[in-house]
Amino acid sequence: SDSYPDLKRDSRFKKVSKEDVEHFKNLLGSEAAILDGVTKETGEEDFEQYNSDWMRKYRGQCRLVLKPETTEQVSGVLKYCNEQCLAVVPQGGNSGLVGGSVPVFDEIVINLSRMNKVRSFDDVSGVLVADSGVILQQADEYVGEHNHIFPLDLGAKGTCQIGANVATNAGGLRLLRYGSMHGNILGLECVLPDGTVMDDLSKLRKNNTGYDLKQLFIGGEGTIGIITAISILCPQRSSAVNVAYFGLQSYEKVMDAFKEAKKQLGEILSAFELMDAQSQQLYHQASGAKLPLEGEHPFYCLIETSGSNTEHDSEKLNAFLEHVMSEEIVADGVVAESETQLQSLWACREGISEAGQHWGGVYKYDLSLPLPELYSLVEDTRKMFEGNGLMHPEDEKFPVKDVVGYGHMGDSNLHLNVATRRYDKDVEKALEPWVYEWVSKRQGSISAEHGLGLAKKGFIGYSRSETMIKLMGKIKETFDPNGIMNPYKYI
Ligand code: FAD
Ligand code: MLT
Ligand code: ZN
Repeated sequence: SDSYPDLKRDSRFKKVSKEDVEHFKNLLGSEAAILDGVTKETGEEDFEQYNSDWMRKYRGQCRLVLKPETTEQVSGVLKYCNEQCLAVVPQGGNSGLVGGSVPVFDEIVINLSRMNKVRSFDDVSGVLVADSGVILQQADEYVGEHNHIFPLDLGAKGTCQIGANVATNAGGLRLLRYGSMHGNILGLECVLPDGTVMDDLSKLRKNNTGYDLKQLFIGGEGTIGIITAISILCPQRSSAVNVAYFGLQSYEKVMDAFKEAKKQLGEILSAFELMDAQSQQLYHQASGAKLPLEGEHPFYCLIETSGSNTEHDSEKLNAFLEHVMSEEIVADGVVAESETQLQSLWACREGISEAGQHWGGVYKYDLSLPLPELYSLVEDTRKMFEGNGLMHPEDEKFPVKDVVGYGHMGDSNLHLNVATRRYDKDVEKALEPWVYEWVSKRQGSISAEHGLGLAKKGFIGYSRSETMIKLMGKIKETFDPNGIMNPYKYI
């Protein structure tokens, strides 16, 4: 591929033939289930949404997209692909940020969007069983009608799919309250590359009977099989939700505020998010939205509380705000007075991702770091770009426009974004492996929540030992001996 001069198409993989397409047509039995550019004249633009990722950074050359509707169809497709040595890429809403969801060469895209039915919901236990392709927001609205909440929320909720959320072990905005997929997923139905259906769609909270195999699919990024359905524990929806947004003078104060929030809001705290001034300016410039506070502060935080008693929660939140302001931990703040205001405060945080791309391209790093050092990486990155002359906020000649930091402070998860005017090899070379070395020196993780995909394929060694990488290889071989599942990616 021209896009990937350092990668070579694996010649073991067969190229899709007319006979293969015929076979898939019979198997899926519907025109809507196939986008065929092998036997039909189909323009590149029709494949764009399947070949190109959300950041417009990675591009494959697939000419066949399959959209199965049932687990049996997924099984039939994979069994055939495995026998014929046809490589595949599982694809959900294609909002992934590491180039994992698009082909590298001509792999067949298996898109789960037509597997979109809720199978059951029990409003006593809160267990939802649903197909993989249900959109996250729709899953949340569905359980919302029964006074429950999907235990994951993220900026891409309108497009991403719950099966893919599991496949990426997505973290998101409320992990601090509801925990990770590894705890909330009770069961999975997965199709292995040879077509075997691993039916572990358990609704049990506790099940200590041997290795917990489903955990391998959580965060497996489509490398060992396709998740076709999930069983997940959904908590009760809180009747009282409050959001506060405040400005702070230093990162030290941000840490003090987090400590106080845990101390004073403990059981009702459902999010603690960090945004630096640069990220808020970026959001403001890209979206045109007015920022909530007058005047500039170097740091901003967004706190959400979720509880069952409005009066009690408001009282607690107000007492907390009074305390942090009188102690001069927080310089200025605002509490949402209406649903609209609550949404616009959240938009200041969730809107940063999209804003990052406003000027052209964005280099994204998603890191776990010890809290005291978390923000130093952003400062050091700015210094690095000032030193090498690649950054200028106003001058178009320079590739880097700005460096911004934000993230899930409550989970020690920093998002370092380098907003550029174009994707540029010099910028990439300056950042990688420099960022990964910085993180590794502090025993952090080079991927807190987005995964490895293609983007971080070569860097896993910065976060995992040789022994662990070898064991991962053995697991891959056990599940996918022909290597057809999402090849060229991290494993
Ligand atoms: P895709 O991008 O289509 O696929 C992601 C990966 O999963 C690929 O490797 C793919 O091969 C594999 N896959 C997809 N479906 C299946 C399946 N059924 N079985 C097996 N493998 C499968 N991520 C976070 O963790 N936290 C955030 O806060 C967050 N916020 C985001 C905000 C925005 C605006 C955007 C654009 C992205 C954000 N992301 C975040 C990243 C992304 O949304 C998540 O990784 C999400 O889980 C991907 O879902 P998707 O349906 O788009 O999957
Ligand atoms: C977020 O927290 O906003 C997401 O993980 C996406 C991003 O990093 O931009
Ligand atoms: Zn995130």
